[in-house]
Amino acid sequence: MSQSIQLGPVTINEVGPRDGLQNQPRVLSPQQRLQLIEALAAAGLRSIEVGSFVSPKAVPAMAGSERVVAGLPEADIYYSALVPNRKGYELARATGLKALGLILATSNTFNEKNLRMSTAQTQATVLDLIEQSRRDGIDALVYLSTAWACPYEGWIDESVVVAMTADMFAAGAKEVIISDTIGAAHPGAVKSLMTRLTREFGGARLGCHFHDTRGMALANVYAALEADIRKFDSSIAGLGGCPFAPGATGNVATEDVALLLAQSGFDTGIDLARLVAAADLAAELTGAAQGGHALRWLKRQREQGLLS
Ligand code: COA
Ligand code: ZN
Repeated sequence: MSQSIQLGPVTINEVGPRDGLQNQPRVLSPQQRLQLIEALAAAGLRSIEVGSFVSPKAVPAMAGSERVVAGLPEADIYYSALVPNRKGYELARATGLKALGLILATSNTFNEKNLRMSTAQTQATVLDLIEQSRRDGIDALVYLSTAWACPYEGWIDESVVVAMTADMFAAGAKEVIISDTIGAAHPGAVKSLMTRLTREFGGARLGCHFHDTRGMALANVYAALEADIRKFDSSIAGLGGCPFAPGATGNVATEDVALLLAQSGFDTGIDLARLVAAADLAAELTGAAQGGHALRWLKRQREQGLLS
């Protein structure tokens, strides 16, 4: 599948078990969530966000994340979970997870709707949890959500994102993931912001998280690649959506990103045939997965025995 040129490794961080499942009409049991994670691990994903520790009243689909963590396959996989506040942090820490995602939106309205806190309060919470995570030997992965646009406040100024990213690194964040929560970004805006950020902070500690609401998520991945980003969130079969971002659809599909990277000559360690099997399982379990743009083509290749 890949060409002879070799452009180095790119990490795909699979967020299907969290972003993908948090907003599904069908709530999966922890056993079913584990089944999906096992299929993803078998496909060669080495970085997986396995759930979130949030209020089960706010997001019922993520209840029981501690049971998911307890059953994770023992493998050389970088597992993480999302936490919105200190309570979530403590619940996640108790499971032994060594990497936690912290959420900070660029806009006040989104922080209020998503987390019931102002931006100042959310930022204070995140800084406190980064400090705590340093004491606990846990990696703090900061999700800067609505980094291009907010569903309530519109386009976000780049300088806001640059300043927040600087604050997060200064506090000790291991990574900052620049997130297009509602899928409003386009390649020009992605290239512009990510070039500015990689010049300032280097590409190694930055990641990108795109939703496909306007069909531009894969183009946005490519634009970020050109700006030296080498870590991308994606969701198997394109599952996903935030309950607090009206109209936003799923994440960029893992199979689309994996195929783009393989064909471009990047090494992801992913077995595409097994990835197709994981996408089938996601569809079966949720009854809702659309599948990525490339999924039908990948299935035909698999039927002909052409996928490695
Ligand atoms: N995990 C589990 N339960 C939690 C929790 C957490 N991280 N944080 C709060 N709770 C519980 C509280 O114990 C309380 O329970 P009770 O009603 O049984 O006493 C209840 O949730 C409300 O707590 P409160 O501190 O008043 O929070 P809130 O009502 O202001 O809600 C959040 C704030 C952040 C907890 C809630 O909005 C939330 O979990 N949102 C999820 C956001 C999310 O996942 N978005 C998608 C990903 S970006
Ligand atoms: Zn998302």
